[in-house]
Amino acid sequence: MARLLTLTIMLLISCYQTWALPSQQQQQAQNHQIYLSDSNIHIRPATEADLDDITTVMIDAFAPGPLWRYAFQYQNQFKEYQWNCLREDLGEQLRNIPNNTWANVISVASQNSGTRIQGNRQERVIAIAAWKIFEPSAEHSDRGSMDLPGVLHNSAKCSDHLDANMTRMLDVERQTSAAIKRYVYDLPHTQLYLSLLATHPEWDGHGFGAVHCHWGMEMAKEMNVPVTLIGTPAGWPLYDSLGFKSVANITIKTLGKMEDLWYEYMRYDP
Ligand SMILES: *[C@@H]1O[C@H](CO)[C@@H](O)[C@H](O)[C@H]1NC(C)=O
Ligand SMILES: *[C@@H]1O[C@H](CO)[C@@H](O)[C@H](O)[C@H]1NC(C)=O
Ligand SMILES: *[C@@H]1O[C@H](CO)[C@@H](O)[C@H](O)[C@H]1NC(C)=O
Repeated sequence: MARLLTLTIMLLISCYQTWALPSQQQQQAQNHQIYLSDSNIHIRPATEADLDDITTVMIDAFAPGPLWRYAFQYQNQFKEYQWNCLREDLGEQLRNIPNNTWANVISVASQNSGTRIQGNRQERVIAIAAWKIFEPSAEHSDRGSMDLPGVLHNSAKCSDHLDANMTRMLDVERQTSAAIKRYVYDLPHTQLYLSLLATHPEWDGHGFGAVHCHWGMEMAKEMNVPVTLIGTPAGWPLYDSLGFKSVANITIKTLGKMEDLWYEYMRYDP
């Protein structure tokens, strides 16, 4: 499972203080805790201290997938450069999370040296998710947002973009933005959109993606709104097993000989 699961939870405390959620939503988020049976595993809001881990999770999960191999054509030659560009961008996003967005991480206790001390625990972030509430009347900007167009746009922002093929990048960005506008932004009612979900490949198969999803599905139930997402082929089986319905198959055309990419627009009505 995992890889780039979407183009695009119990958490609380530090982030909710700074994010200034609308009070009703804040209340819902706080009521809405998921308890994991293993006390070495935690789900909580992302903080800036998680940046290194989050960057590594994203790159290790997404880089092997067809989209990144296509758009970041030179990523293998410029691994450190790519890591630093993404880290810088994610840092900016984490410092400026809008009040309709949640970024959650799952962390595990770790004995390895090199892991961070969080509070008084040593831990490592191994799965991340970002959620956004979209209301039909609101203005949308996919810049600086934790979703695929945002990541593509911003990762290519390092001035030299050594790792990217910008012709491909801009073409993919144009097509994915159009798909998100059509299926997500233009939906005539409020939705909770899963904009990003990734598990580090070493931790695949433990159900962490499902834990993240359950957080959002519960939240959506309390808010009485659907959950929507644009999933990759790698993520599709997970969403399907959780009861998401496939609504539309989105094809992203590639330039040259590479096979076209596909994504599935999916929806869950609690
Ligand atoms: C959330 O942010 C938007 C745009 O920045 C602002 O217009 C709105 O008033 C904020 N809502 C709350 C409840 O803080
Ligand atoms: C979406 O379309 C692609 C390409 O035609 C196909 O291979 C894939 O199975 C479809 N996905 C789903 C979930 O039906
Ligand atoms: C970028 O991708 C396009 C389309 O596949 C290709 O024609 C072009 O040669 C690539 N550019 C570089 C610098 O590799």
